[in-house]
Amino acid sequence: MGKTAVAVTVTVTVVGVAAVACAVIVNRRMKNGAKWDRTMEILNEFEEKCGTHIGKLKQVAEAMVVEMNAGLASDNASRVKMLISFVDNLPTGDEHGLFYALDLGGTNFRVLRVQLGGKEAGIKRQEFAEVSIPPELMVGKSEELFGYIAAELAKFVAQEGPEFQLSPGRERELGFTFSFPVMQTSIDSGTLIKWTKGFSIDDSVGQDVVEELTKALRKKGVEMHVTALVNDTVGTLAGGRFSNKDVIAAVILGTGTNAAYVESAQAIPKWRGPSPRSGEMVINMEWGNFQSTHLPLTEYDNALDLDSLNRGEQTYEKLISGMYLGEIVRRVLCRMAEEASFFGNNIPPKLLTPFILRTPDMSAMHHDSSPDLRVVGSKIKTILEIPDLSLKKRKVIHKLCVIVATRGARLAAAGIFGILKKAGRDTLANCENQRTVVAIDGGLYEHYTEFRECLEDTLRELVGDRVWEKISIEHANDGSGIGAALLAASHSRYLEDDEK
Ligand code: BGC
Repeated sequence: MGKTAVAVTVTVTVVGVAAVACAVIVNRRMKNGAKWDRTMEILNEFEEKCGTHIGKLKQVAEAMVVEMNAGLASDNASRVKMLISFVDNLPTGDEHGLFYALDLGGTNFRVLRVQLGGKEAGIKRQEFAEVSIPPELMVGKSEELFGYIAAELAKFVAQEGPEFQLSPGRERELGFTFSFPVMQTSIDSGTLIKWTKGFSIDDSVGQDVVEELTKALRKKGVEMHVTALVNDTVGTLAGGRFSNKDVIAAVILGTGTNAAYVESAQAIPKWRGPSPRSGEMVINMEWGNFQSTHLPLTEYDNALDLDSLNRGEQTYEKLISGMYLGEIVRRVLCRMAEEASFFGNNIPPKLLTPFILRTPDMSAMHHDSSPDLRVVGSKIKTILEIPDLSLKKRKVIHKLCVIVATRGARLAAAGIFGILKKAGRDTLANCENQRTVVAIDGGLYEHYTEFRECLEDTLRELVGDRVWEKISIEHANDGSGIGAALLAASHSRYLEDDEK
């Protein structure tokens, strides 16, 4: 366990002891009726503070547009960094050859190889492997993390079969999807601004991530050139555009959250480079760091933030993404246990463990449609080791999941509405003759059906029925890895040879 994790556990244990003492006092004084009243009070107050009525969402979208403009004007003017991706030519479908991709952004990473066959054959062949990252490497030393990744990639390359063909005399090329904020200096270089999503490797911040990966690959004897460095949103946009030319933006809703979109080069005052041939540039927004007075933050969100590895940062992400939703529910349950003896006279020790309630478990409880909320009962029993809960308490837990997921999904929809506004695709006049497609990927979007449906319903509510007809949301399944391989192809160092 990393130092910070230990510190968090110690703090939580101390708080826990205090809470037990407090609960005992509360219990002596409180009658059952009063305990239930207090439970409902906590629930109702929480629901009220999480409110996202349509007017508020419109304010959030407006504030997002303001931050986008500020971020495009200068690097330090906004929390929403609006990072230049150096991707000014999205895949066209002409790409061909063998390319590798490495997708690092959560607790797992993926390595893949694709054989691209140009306009006629498209993606001819692909293979991938998924590897989980040992938790200690997420908070350790940079060399160890990159060494581990390079070793796994070496194994994968060694398994390449004869059906994958590299043109003679060429080195293998790789698209590196690195899903953290990076200040890029070209398509194949960039320095890490900060870690997010539970990663904290201090000696990497400010370093060029391509250099670190290249060093590690050399050490493991892997002969490969890192041709494109991309964020997962940029990879998803590239992958989405490959299959549908109307894709203008990509959103990730997974462990973390972020969005990228295609911006006109003229609307990027901070861009000092040559005017892109396409006239456009993909912007990695890093919207997870968005903050606004319009965001419905509660005391539970503030406490979560204080205990996090990245205090004061990624505020929007902490309201929306998969890493945090279950944890917010746990925190409200802690308050109910402390102040309303929700789980009996003592606070169940497991409940005091941060992040023990994962978003997939919360999702399973949210989707429980059985009359006696059987799934809620069994999840609480296994995760928190609490024997049978009454139906009315199960209903409270179910309701908490609904509140937290609804707030997250509606806020994510407001962010997308902000992008549509910025791109001028929010009015019928502009949408009449063109379709607008937003590609979305990430486990939260893919597996949490209620979240996904709520997001889509909310977006429809925000844009109105007529504009909604011109907009599609597409699930870009694992598009970021393929997208990175495609971008490696469209930026290949052998392009000129190919043209000759
Ligand atoms: C990172 C982004 C990434 C997003 C989704 C966020 O925490 O800052 O770079 O795109 O997660 O993976």
